[in-house]
Amino acid sequence: MAKIIAVTNQKGGVGKTTTCVNLAASLTAMKRKVLLIDLDPQGNATTGSGVIKSELKTSVFDVLVGTHGIKQCIIDLDPAGYAILPANSDLTGAEVVLLDLPTKETRLRSALYEIEQEYDFILLDCPPSLNMLTVNALAASNGILIPVQCEYYALEGLTALLQTIERIKESINPALEIEGILRTMYDPRPSLTHDVSEQLNKYFANKVYDTVIPRNIRLAEAPSYGLPILNYEKESRGAIAYLALAGEFIRKGRSTTVSA
Ligand SMILES: Nc1ncnc2c1ncn2[C@@H]1O[C@H](COP(=O)(O)OP(=O)(O)O)[C@@H](O)[C@H]1O
Ligand SMILES: [Mg+2]
Repeated sequence: MAKIIAVTNQKGGVGKTTTCVNLAASLTAMKRKVLLIDLDPQGNATTGSGVIKSELKTSVFDVLVGTHGIKQCIIDLDPAGYAILPANSDLTGAEVVLLDLPTKETRLRSALYEIEQEYDFILLDCPPSLNMLTVNALAASNGILIPVQCEYYALEGLTALLQTIERIKESINPALEIEGILRTMYDPRPSLTHDVSEQLNKYFANKVYDTVIPRNIRLAEAPSYGLPILNYEKESRGAIAYLALAGEFIRKGRSTTVSA
């Protein structure tokens, strides 16, 4: 049974998509079967995985509104090795369509029942807002990974996210937990990063990953080639950091899983 992780933070540009693509590729390199679901109408995870949005016949939109089964919409990627349920701008209209459906918050969760046995991990790349797509992601997930950019005001907006998580826990997904907080675009200037890390440790204690993702130009370049960093420049600091994150992610997941 797959572990389903929503990568979310309603702030844009904090590294959600970069984390999804590169964690998916790094987990794949560690022999895990991974499905990445793009839930952002901008489709950056789709493009960054080498899929051309304008050529898509089906996408996650079709799954959410029920016009196609999920298996018909998943694409296996070569050379990255993981699978993707892609998105394009069709998804912009999903919010409106979903609002009219009685099961609007659990459309994705229902669709995932069909395929969750086939993967070890399913990563959900969320849009930069707390809309119905993010609610679908949180309703379908076991855990939440929150990337936080190491800058002043990094914690701004996290209160609203935590309130949304609480609301989903109380209503449709009581088992939902924060899986981990990831510091991204880490800058070695000590005064800045130290403050952010201190605040995160205070609020989230042991949930903050030891692995930090450095600011690395190769991570920003790789998407324009439609490749994860491992397939673009595997020796780069960015590639090494995401491999380390995958290792920590697997270890942490194991230690928090209650064995029967
Ligand atoms: N560690 C990093 N180093 C350098 N650039 C990064 C890093 N992480 C993300 N970026 C770049 O920053 C921008 C925003 O990242 P992205 O992952 O798209 O954020 P989000 O999905 O949260 O909006 C993108 O242009 C991306 O290539
Ligand atoms: Mg994104």
